[in-house]
Amino acid sequence: LEGYNVDWTKKYKGNSRLVLKPNSTKKVSQILKYCNENLLPVVPQGGNTGLVGGAIPIKDEIILSLSNMNKILEFDTHQSVISCEAGCVLDALNQHLLPYKYEIPLDLGSRGSCQIGGNIATNAGGIRFIKFGPFKSYVLGMEVVLANGEILDLRSKIRKDNTGLDIKQSFIGSEGILGIITQANILVSPLDKFKTVILMQCESFGKVLEISRECKSTPGRHLSALEFFDEHCYKLVQKNLPGVVRPFEFSPELKNFYVLIELCGQEPLDGIIEELYEKLSEKNLTLNMIMSENESQFHSLWRLREGIAEACGRGGIVLKYDVSLGIEKFEDIVQSVRKRHGDYGYSVGYGHIGDSNIHINSICKKPEYKKKMEELLEPYIFEYLASVNGSISAEHGIGSMKPKYLHFSKNNLAIHYMHQLKKVFDPNGILNPNKVLISQ
Ligand code: FAD
Ligand code: MLT
Ligand code: ZN
Repeated sequence: LEGYNVDWTKKYKGNSRLVLKPNSTKKVSQILKYCNENLLPVVPQGGNTGLVGGAIPIKDEIILSLSNMNKILEFDTHQSVISCEAGCVLDALNQHLLPYKYEIPLDLGSRGSCQIGGNIATNAGGIRFIKFGPFKSYVLGMEVVLANGEILDLRSKIRKDNTGLDIKQSFIGSEGILGIITQANILVSPLDKFKTVILMQCESFGKVLEISRECKSTPGRHLSALEFFDEHCYKLVQKNLPGVVRPFEFSPELKNFYVLIELCGQEPLDGIIEELYEKLSEKNLTLNMIMSENESQFHSLWRLREGIAEACGRGGIVLKYDVSLGIEKFEDIVQSVRKRHGDYGYSVGYGHIGDSNIHINSICKKPEYKKKMEELLEPYIFEYLASVNGSISAEHGIGSMKPKYLHFSKNNLAIHYMHQLKKVFDPNGILNPNKVLISQ
């Protein structure tokens, strides 16, 4: 059972003695009906790649894994909608869509394991948010099993549907506390014919901000990712991940920053790239730049960015803060965190700068410093975010990590109505107890 009781970061550990893996909606319904009548708590689990402990039992709750519900049901080429069971892995859906030249409008580093049900339950963000916007706008329909076993059929494939309250939106981002998603209808997007990655090195965060502005305006709709990382990340990836490329040397004081952009389009991108290069060099914004010339370079440059989470994990116990705030404050929040924890650890900053979303990973220098680091940084970081009207969770969710800090991003009345909604769908509180909301 270990693989189901421990999360990807190994920070969250449960003690469940029972994992159920139903292969049909009817079985999910029967399981929940039984659990509800017997007041047995249930933790829904998809690919178990979540980073806030949402899919891991807090005690010995029953784990309901969706892994055996992995059938692709249909691809409707007229509506561009794929219908599938919730346990389909994101990558598998894209493989299925490849011959049709379509893709799911969501991409993230965990694509080989995360499931579409988990993506919906977390309203995942990912690296192409800047191109596609929130995943919730592509979830046209779903089937959900409620705590009492009722099967709520919301499987619309229609994009325009203003028929009263859109109940399905309540389940998107609900992290398994309102119901179990068993099927989904996703609006897919045409694959781009041309794609390229450009990695830039620059000497200050001020330059990152300017590059970011330029990249948003010049390539415009051709921009499909706008990411950044600091030099501490770059060094850690070089140190902890064998085989990664090293296009640029480090600065002695680790003061450089990196911006990675992806451009895409149905036509060749040469003109756009040339224009962008000219603008960046006119303003003297970069120290170095490299562009992918083929698919293998495309992936190895992305690996420098996507490998950061893994490289941090190999560096020690990691405290992960996935936050949103004005990008002009990114440098300040990372510096404040570093000052706050001092020698107990070290922190790196990276993420989706195009979406105002930074990931701060604070790595404990020794395992025994974890408690001290947590005491120093929580609620410190969340207070900082509240003071600048940021969000304590940009994309990973609340899970079991942050229910007691939810009030830093949501007011009391909003939290009250979240509890009310929870009571409507799960009056006995059997679904994912003490995740997102502290059980009442
Ligand atoms: P799980 O981890 O299994 O579950 C996540 C939550 O959803 C839990 O609360 C669980 O109870 C609930 N849940 C799962 N399935 C269902 C269901 N069928 N019905 C109801 N509730 C359910 N996230 C981002 O947003 N952006 C990123 O860029 C990103 N990159 C990542 C990179 C790596 C290397 C890793 C390890 C993680 C990354 N994540 C990212 C986090 C994670 O992959 C996403 O949150 C993903 O959507 C979780 O999917 P999952 O199937 O693994 O869900
Ligand atoms: C990422 O953007 O790399 C993911 O959200 C994972 C992480 O934050 O570590
Ligand atoms: Zn992310």
